[in-house]
Amino acid sequence: MKQNGRVKHGKTAATANDTEAFKLERINNIKKIEKNRKIQSLAMRFMRESIPMRYSYNFDWLGRPIIQYPQDVVAMQEIIWKVKPDLVIETGIARGGSLVFYASMLELIGGRGRVVGVDIDIRKHNKKEIEKHRMSKRITMIEGSSTDEGIVRRVGKIAAGYNRVLVCLDSSHSRDHVLRELKMYSPFVSRGSYLVVFDTIVKDLPKKFFRNRPWGPNNNPASAVAIFLRDNKNFIVDREVGTKLLITVAPGGFLKRIL
Ligand SMILES: C[S@@+](CC[C@H](N)C(=O)[O-])C[C@H]1O[C@@H](n2cnc3c(N)ncnc32)[C@H](O)[C@@H]1O
Repeated sequence: MKQNGRVKHGKTAATANDTEAFKLERINNIKKIEKNRKIQSLAMRFMRESIPMRYSYNFDWLGRPIIQYPQDVVAMQEIIWKVKPDLVIETGIARGGSLVFYASMLELIGGRGRVVGVDIDIRKHNKKEIEKHRMSKRITMIEGSSTDEGIVRRVGKIAAGYNRVLVCLDSSHSRDHVLRELKMYSPFVSRGSYLVVFDTIVKDLPKKFFRNRPWGPNNNPASAVAIFLRDNKNFIVDREVGTKLLITVAPGGFLKRIL
């Protein structure tokens, strides 16, 4: 017995050592990425080549098109698992893949978690498919502009019934719109949770990519984040997320609420 006990104890210590060693290895990996200009510029080259090809249109989550890079989906999964929100608010629904993704994560976490999506134009066929989806029991869709005061009030009424709230901004990408969203939706984010601003990458892309759009390298979600963070000390940029992803549409867009 004594011997068994020792073996067991030895194994546990080895497992703990291995777990710690792995954590350390990961931290060192990320530090190396931070210093490695070559991998960073390769990643940026991939983004510059893949964005005009609409690479983000290529993926589904549980059968619904999710307009995201897979790396960002993994990052959101990590954040949701860590924060365990009971409410996810997202502006910008499109075809509903991201709503279904957040709802499926809340389903895995268990509990009564809900997702609220706001979009200025929820197309009938998309709405129908989202409503038919197995995850729709956790989804509320609101049609209207995300910066309309009445819409934000409706979201606020829902948010009042929840404790841990995560917000994702993925609607229009002009600076003024995102800045308004940041100001209107940041109070919903609970401490320790995140306010994720997608498409900050626009700042690093050539103007010609956005000829038919109001946004571009000088008018984009990153410009909004910079202004927002100047006045709001409740949030910091979680740099580790963007650094380790390399491939992301949200560099500097993972904001953590610390106060
Ligand atoms: C990039 S897509 C969202 C992608 C979606 N989050 C996903 O991951 O699949 C942007 C969406 O924002 C919506 N949108 C544009 N302007 C908006 C506004 N002022 N308020 C709310 N939604 C808006 C568009 O209708 C479009 O569906």
